[in-house]
Amino acid sequence: MKAIQVTNYGGPEVAGVQSVDAPIKNKGEVLVRVVASSVNPVDIKHMTPGTVQEIEQFPMILGWDIAGVVMAGDKDSTFQTGDRVLALHPQGSWQQVVSVQENQLLKLPDDIDFIHGASIPLGAVTALQALRKLKIKQGETLLVTGAMGLVGGYAIELAKQAKISVAGLVRNKEQKKICEDLFDVRMYVSDESLPAFDTVFDTAGILDRAEILQSKGRLVTVSDDKVSPEVEERALWTEHNFVRTSQEDLQTIIALFSKGKLHSRIEAVYSMNEIQEALKHASQNGNNGKTIIVF
Ligand SMILES: NC(=O)c1ccc[n+]([C@@H]2O[C@H](COP(=O)([O-])OP(=O)(O)OC[C@H]3O[C@@H](n4cnc5c(N)ncnc54)[C@H](OP(=O)(O)O)[C@@H]3O)[C@@H](O)[C@H]2O)c1
Repeated sequence: MKAIQVTNYGGPEVAGVQSVDAPIKNKGEVLVRVVASSVNPVDIKHMTPGTVQEIEQFPMILGWDIAGVVMAGDKDSTFQTGDRVLALHPQGSWQQVVSVQENQLLKLPDDIDFIHGASIPLGAVTALQALRKLKIKQGETLLVTGAMGLVGGYAIELAKQAKISVAGLVRNKEQKKICEDLFDVRMYVSDESLPAFDTVFDTAGILDRAEILQSKGRLVTVSDDKVSPEVEERALWTEHNFVRTSQEDLQTIIALFSKGKLHSRIEAVYSMNEIQEALKHASQNGNNGKTIIVF
């Protein structure tokens, strides 16, 4: 079988398709034929030297999202051969077959295709879990930074579902227009002055603008950047949130997709042999959706 391996730190040129041994299925795992996965910022950070996401040993297989088909499960497994499934799988999704812990898997509803399915788990579960951390009360306001991104977009849709008064922050006027059309909420551009919000969900690493947070406001970030001392001083608390696998949260997310309450955006689809082009594309600023890899 084939896998995309990263052989060193570097740009897209360090990723390539190689033949590897098929994985061995352990008890409690399900063998999944991967149909599609996605490129997430964490994958690019892993490849980039000097980030917090270090690689312990090369060659390395990256990738966190899986949409695929069950090849084999345990006799008493909920998942049967041929089932369409979805997983948040940290990490090693960029290969044709993965042995996935059963408690990371979910059946992929018929109304979600593999390409869209592969765009969902990491981004949407991250948004759900980080938003929950803010414990937003009725009447409080929320600003989501990086609203044009996948996590930011999901956070805005989830906040709207919860009837939270939410606004977004984007990089430029072009993104502002796209996001206003997508989400129908107030959008601000990075270089304009903003009101202060009760809560901030940062996905863009904008952690030095104390004026956007009310005094004693709360801020959660999913970026790897440091919160500035000015923001720390103003806030009641700030927190870096890290996603964790949760079948229950993935189920909540998928139910919302099936009801049309959450939407995924696909920017580009590449075959595994085009991994270098896929990585180049995903690394560009201004993408309006996920870069998907088909296996
Ligand atoms: N902690 C965790 O567990 C966890 C889990 C998932 C993701 N993450 C992290 O969360 C972040 C967002 O993920 P994602 O998948 O949503 O990435 P994404 O789709 O690339 O979105 C990031 C968005 O932030 C925007 N942005 C960057 N700098 C900005 C600025 N100064 N002003 C306004 N907008 C700005 C980007 O715009 P441009 O495209 O124009 O640059 C992009 O639209 C990444 O850093 C990712 O690694 C963390």
